[in-house]
Amino acid sequence: MYLGIDLGTSGVKAMLIGDDQAVVGSASSKEVTTTRLHDGWSEQDPADWIRAMEEAIAGLRSAHPDAFSAVRGIGLSGHMHGATLLDADDKVLRPCIMWNDTRSYREAAALDADPRFRKITGNIVFPGFTAPKLAWVKNNEPDIFAKVRWVLLPKDYLRLWLAGEHLSEMSDSAGTSWLDTGARKWSSELLAATGLDESQMPGLVEGTAPAGTLRPELAAKWGLREGIVIAGGAGDNAASACGMGTVREGTAFVSLGTSGVLFAANARYLPNPESAVHAFCHALPDTWHQMGVILSATDALNWHARVTGASAADLTKELGDTLKTPSHVTFLPYLSGERTPHNDATIRGAFLGLGHEADRTVLTQAVLEGVAFAIRDSLEALKSAGTALTRVTAIGGGSRSRYWLKSIATALGLPVDLPADGDFGAAFGAARLGLIAATGANPTDILTPPATAETIHPEAALSAAYEDAYQRYRRLYPAIRAAY
Ligand code: XUL
Repeated sequence: MYLGIDLGTSGVKAMLIGDDQAVVGSASSKEVTTTRLHDGWSEQDPADWIRAMEEAIAGLRSAHPDAFSAVRGIGLSGHMHGATLLDADDKVLRPCIMWNDTRSYREAAALDADPRFRKITGNIVFPGFTAPKLAWVKNNEPDIFAKVRWVLLPKDYLRLWLAGEHLSEMSDSAGTSWLDTGARKWSSELLAATGLDESQMPGLVEGTAPAGTLRPELAAKWGLREGIVIAGGAGDNAASACGMGTVREGTAFVSLGTSGVLFAANARYLPNPESAVHAFCHALPDTWHQMGVILSATDALNWHARVTGASAADLTKELGDTLKTPSHVTFLPYLSGERTPHNDATIRGAFLGLGHEADRTVLTQAVLEGVAFAIRDSLEALKSAGTALTRVTAIGGGSRSRYWLKSIATALGLPVDLPADGDFGAAFGAARLGLIAATGANPTDILTPPATAETIHPEAALSAAYEDAYQRYRRLYPAIRAAY
């Protein structure tokens, strides 16, 4: 048995798989609280992650006691980029500044203006990345900055608790702005440019390699044998790719989670920061990936649900399953600013083209279309970064809405595959990495794609109307930008 643990933005999910990779069961924690003290801020308390992990593991243990006691390997996945700052006693110095926190946009722009960052990391220094957050702490909380002994990514804080080790792996570390992404090692030059050095960073392994063993006290508490291997694991997007078998060149997925991601696996390192595409290491050796990232996908629908007082499920139900011609209402989903393609932390969302007829359903339709168009922007960005996709697989909570899938297929002009029933997300990918690290199995033998249950094709009759609506969407960002 292998245990996958995914630290999501909304909570922890733990999953158990067998040697044959069949899912034995999974359990989730209660929601982890995100605190938004100011516009653009987003923080979580790392102590809540540990509580959530223990809760998810307790749920899994009590539902599957025998299978749980046979665990041989563990894999970790988590939301990326978060700055978890520890002192010399491994005490958390302040709440984690999360991936969707954009307070450090000035620091990010300053680092991005230093040409070494794009050259070495292959990426724009986005405000959500880790380095500018440390620059913000240095400028605004110098007492805390002076005490920073370790900078860990969120899932690696779970590892510290599980194994007592300060270790990370390539896929998550590529999102810090401190990794030499082509060479797969920390850049002492970039760390120095942020007032840090390599001794403050965790040691690096590949995601498929062992990175710590479960502490004997925990093994005893959970009824497990000693010496259980913990894999390097992956940032949540690379972990999902491991779950979906998106590891071969040309394969891609669209993830509709809190954030929206269009992810493509690459056999080579293909940086193209000008297009605002992320070029990161994959979780398996000698492999990289590109992705376009939008900050609010299901988060946009959840916002609309909060404002209207209806649930997200009710809103999509109300819309029905038949794809409609885009109305005159356009929604820009920039509730937390945007990464791909704009790299703009201070832009905010908008509804435009409202008429008296614009009821709740029309607004829901516009929200789903706005996210679909934002993903189309990522498709165009990937294209200009040398990656032309021919089809994508859909994952994430938002992919439960057929309307959204049809809208995305039509906005992208690509077939969207739906995996056969099952859960192939980040927790499954993490469990697969645990299996590989514990058994030494060949990664490509394990990281295979699921069967496709169904393919949603673009609706040819609406393609022209969608293209017009997308072009209008494209024109609105510069207009809104100019107005603010
Ligand atoms: C990726 C990113 C998000 C988080 C969400 O760059 O910021 O997808 O990993 O969990």
